[in-house]
Amino acid sequence: MAHEISDLVTLLPQTNQLIGLFSIIRDENTPRSDFVFYSDRIIRLLVEEGLNHLPVEPKVISTPTNEKFDGVLFLGKICGVSIVRAGESMEKGLRDCCRSVRIGKILIQRDEETALPKLFYEKLPTDIDSRFVFLLDPMLATGGSAILATKVLINRGVKPERIFFLNLVAAPEGIEAYVKAFPSIKIITGAIDKGLNDKKYIIPGIGDFGDRYYCI
Ligand code: URA
Repeated sequence: MAHEISDLVTLLPQTNQLIGLFSIIRDENTPRSDFVFYSDRIIRLLVEEGLNHLPVEPKVISTPTNEKFDGVLFLGKICGVSIVRAGESMEKGLRDCCRSVRIGKILIQRDEETALPKLFYEKLPTDIDSRFVFLLDPMLATGGSAILATKVLINRGVKPERIFFLNLVAAPEGIEAYVKAFPSIKIITGAIDKGLNDKKYIIPGIGDFGDRYYCI
């Protein structure tokens, strides 16, 4: 069972398996191919946990043994929205669980003049306001980009209670800022770290997730 830190924050179960996966991707000496492989495994766990939060209705199934099984049926349509670039690393994990899922993208970068996050590009499913949305960004540091991305979703008509923000590692500062901005949106995370350093990197953290997943 995942651990409900609060009504809004779910932490994946801190099993030896998960800590082992994090030990590999947190290690500065891990080569990129391993970083990608083991990050993908954590991402898959996050997506599976996210799916647990979707509503279901009861459905009785007939099995090949002429017996009944009290099952459930997922209700509602979902889509993913990745915050470019690092969030794109989480798209495959979502696709592996939800065949032909629609995925939108939001590009946010730091405005050089104001140092604040600025929206550069958004491309979202046209019917996003009728979907549950998995917002994808692996690192919740200050929360600045995630808050802006979530405002974009809400402006497009998505109900806050239909948004689930999935990340691998969260800093307490980011969680606090995000929950304060959106007191009804759930965060699902793999780890809650100590905090941020003076460069706003999460510590102990992973380093620059996008660089390690795509470049280094
Ligand atoms: N983004 C990253 O990739 N790493 C951090 O530690 C913080 C933000």
